[in-house]
Amino acid sequence: MYGTIIINDNIQNSIKLLESNIDKLDVNGNVFVLVRNEVDAIGDVTNDFLDIIEAAVKLKYFYVNTIVAPTKNVIPSNLPDNVLYIVWLAKDKNHFFNKDVIRESHIWKDVEWGKRAKNYNPKGKDPGNVWIPTKDDGKANITEHILLDTSAIINRLHKCSTQEGKDTIYLTSKSISSLNLDSSITVVYSNNDYVPPIPSKISYSKSINDKPNNITGSVIWGTSENMDKIPDGSINVVITSPPYWDLKDYFKKGQIGQESYNTYLDRLYKVWEGCYNKLTENGSLWLNINIRTKNGKVILIPRDFVAQCRKIGFHYKGVLIWHKSSGIPTHDKNIVDRHEYVLVFSKSEYLIINDCISNFKDYKNESINGGLFWNINRKAGSVGKHFIHPAIYPNGLVSRIVQITTNVNDTVLDPFLGSGTTLIASVLEGRSCIGYEYNEGFKELILSRFNNEVDLLAKLKI
Ligand SMILES: C[S@@+](CC[C@H](N)C(=O)[O-])C[C@H]1O[C@@H](n2cnc3c(N)ncnc32)[C@H](O)[C@@H]1O
Repeated sequence: MYGTIIINDNIQNSIKLLESNIDKLDVNGNVFVLVRNEVDAIGDVTNDFLDIIEAAVKLKYFYVNTIVAPTKNVIPSNLPDNVLYIVWLAKDKNHFFNKDVIRESHIWKDVEWGKRAKNYNPKGKDPGNVWIPTKDDGKANITEHILLDTSAIINRLHKCSTQEGKDTIYLTSKSISSLNLDSSITVVYSNNDYVPPIPSKISYSKSINDKPNNITGSVIWGTSENMDKIPDGSINVVITSPPYWDLKDYFKKGQIGQESYNTYLDRLYKVWEGCYNKLTENGSLWLNINIRTKNGKVILIPRDFVAQCRKIGFHYKGVLIWHKSSGIPTHDKNIVDRHEYVLVFSKSEYLIINDCISNFKDYKNESINGGLFWNINRKAGSVGKHFIHPAIYPNGLVSRIVQITTNVNDTVLDPFLGSGTTLIASVLEGRSCIGYEYNEGFKELILSRFNNEVDLLAKLKI
């Protein structure tokens, strides 16, 4: 029986190893599966970390969390993919976890999430599920972001999951080069051939920065299940965060998200199909969504969206990690959620993005910048008790996607506009934007945000 099983192989092999080792896991044991998303010759994702979670749940593993860490080695998959996924599984919810050995140091002295004194722990900050440790100058300034190598990651996983008298086993393929691991970890090579992802080339474009001309923002009140009011082939990019299933109430009967899961998916299928038709041939769709767990049950919404979009004809190009520094502390057996996913789809075979992606410098470490990790903090007012809308994403997330996918005077669509973030960020970037929102109750909010943040109220059709 093993206390910890760490798997590092390609996705198909990892699934086989999960299957063949489930009976060798201690009752309080943990499993960590390290994977990269895999792509084919045109840069479409063929297998991803969601496949691991889906297979693990079917095998009756308990899903704990997904940790992400940047890598030095970038897989060019139309997008500069530098994400290592660590899918964390266990036998059940009583798994062992020693949080203290991987705590992060407090940078802002005595401050923890929500500024609540009870959350302050003198041993350090609760570890999060984005592994980019920092160094600081002791005066609240980060001086360096650290890129962990695979050995450091495996040693860390071993450290936080090792129980007295229980072994850790590292299962890997012969073709993965040897690492500098803690001597108490047993390394076992499988006979599986490791098939590395086939890299396809990234094509970068230069943006055409004309003068903004007749930029407009429009809101259509109603359901985006029917977007007949927009001409087909007229939208350059869709950026959106759809309602989660069974999580938040946006205060209007008939909204998406409150029905059965199958009906929820059927309704969203219509929205994605509409987006496909409205997009130009070079257009793309950027979907912000996370995995949802309810009473210990995993609802793989991103997996279902990927399947739907593929069926419609979209090419699945990868996953952008929106890294948020804040996060709600969890219980003792888990780490803090500090990221969300943005699934990326293109209408044509190749997704061409703008090379300005390399200008987004979030980290004090050049080997992390320029890839699929974007550290953007949430807007004040979007969390906590006095929120103005239950699920606002930051302007910066949208403006960056707009910059890398469109030119000035292009048009952006958001089928779930909420408080108007996509509209505001697009217009500020010199792009027109059309948004659908079901709840007219958000009108005042959109108007006041547009007035305060854009100062172009005259251009708003609402
Ligand atoms: C996650 S929120 C979007 C938040 C937005 N990204 C922002 O920054 O404010 C989802 C929104 O979808 C809206 N919604 C729900 N059902 C809808 C439907 N059938 N058509 C259009 N919008 C809908 C909700 O009212 C909610 O405002």
